[in-house]
Amino acid sequence: MNKAIDPALMQAAEVSGSTGLDAYWMPFTANRQFKQAPRLLVRAEGMHYEDSDGRRILDGVAGLWCVNAGHGRPRITQAIQAQAAEMDFAPPFQMAHPKAFELAERVAALAPAGMGKVFFANSGSEAVETALKMALAYHRVRGEASRTRLIGRERGYHGVNFGGISVGGIVGNRKLFGTMLGGVDHIRHTHDPARNGFSIGQPAHGAEFADDLERLVALHDASTIAAVIVEPIAGSTGVLIPPQGYLQRLREICTKHGILLIFDEVITGFGRTGNPFAAQTFGVTPDLITCAKGLTNGAVPMGAVIAKTEIHDAFMQGPENAIEFPHGYTYSAHPLACAAGLATLDTYAEDGLLTRAQGLQDLFAQAVHSLKAEPHVVDVRNFGLVAGIELASIPGAPTKRAFELFLDCWQQGVLVRTTGDIVALSPPLIIEPAQIDQLVETLRRALRRLH
Ligand SMILES: Cc1ncc(COP(=O)(O)O)c(C=O)c1O
Repeated sequence: MNKAIDPALMQAAEVSGSTGLDAYWMPFTANRQFKQAPRLLVRAEGMHYEDSDGRRILDGVAGLWCVNAGHGRPRITQAIQAQAAEMDFAPPFQMAHPKAFELAERVAALAPAGMGKVFFANSGSEAVETALKMALAYHRVRGEASRTRLIGRERGYHGVNFGGISVGGIVGNRKLFGTMLGGVDHIRHTHDPARNGFSIGQPAHGAEFADDLERLVALHDASTIAAVIVEPIAGSTGVLIPPQGYLQRLREICTKHGILLIFDEVITGFGRTGNPFAAQTFGVTPDLITCAKGLTNGAVPMGAVIAKTEIHDAFMQGPENAIEFPHGYTYSAHPLACAAGLATLDTYAEDGLLTRAQGLQDLFAQAVHSLKAEPHVVDVRNFGLVAGIELASIPGAPTKRAFELFLDCWQQGVLVRTTGDIVALSPPLIIEPAQIDQLVETLRRALRRLH
């Protein structure tokens, strides 16, 4: 076993008689490759991780798009500790605890006007499943039971559960898992490098891609369609920024046909685009928002659906003792998550983090676009504190070049994320200009060494 590994792991290995790395089947990881040269994080504070060799690693991706306030914020840590000591768990069905109500009020207050109801889950994937079920049930309780079709978008990522991969549009996440949900269709993605390559901020071309929804309405009829789900900025597919006017057009078409519009804001929520939600930044109000990650600064798993008040109200009918929406999780509104969420929102408010990206986005854009002329770079795209740097793939070996870049940055003490041959940057919102510089210059050095 690698000497760099934590002593506790060595001890566990001795007990189990394994190499210490055998038992953990890692998610979304090349397990065999990883276990030959593990990268272990053992500590984190502010903008940095520390690895098991004691090296400081600049976090260029907010963990996994979630640690928006930076790591180890004392207020959040203390809130979790205090809550664990006070009350570890409270059943969320037919019971509740005060912080669940408090957090829902606080989240609703940050959401676009009219979105006043918050349903808690434990992850982005669960938030997505919740929103899809809410949309189907909403039409049914209103007497439009024929609206059963869900529409996603090519290249979309909506987590890994069956609803999410069905409406999702990333082939690698779908192809192993059979036929998934029936009655799902997809509108086309918005990527158009020929017209929009190296756009700074929102690309100029492609509002008309939203009209693809009209094609599906013509094919299936609006009376069969419950909802359309899109990420305002697609993240996991490699950062696709919505063309100017695209989201507005999608909203208009949905409204015209009585189709619910769901924004999956799991990565864009909580300040990533310079406002609490991307819905506000782009000036488009959906019917449902899914969020997670930044809701608790990544410190305790939590997801949520924020619903228009009228959607919730449509369910509030029938006998008073009826459970209006038979859905929920044992850990919905878990006390530790609620405590972390409240402390997170306090931290965001205290430090002005939900709008901080507005002041940094031009500098960030300038920095990432300075990579345009570097070897292998075929596109750079950005918005708020998100950027995607697309590399030409090695013929016959997709993902290899970006992974090599990722490893080089890691060796240099910077954590980035790659998906396919695209580097995605989403630093904590506390990043300072000098750290933006470090991030970009690390990438530049790595690009110049790449094969
Ligand atoms: C847009 C979007 N939706 C859903 C998810 C799934 O979230 P989780 O991994 O918490 O289930 C993600 C995760 O990155 C995401 O980016």
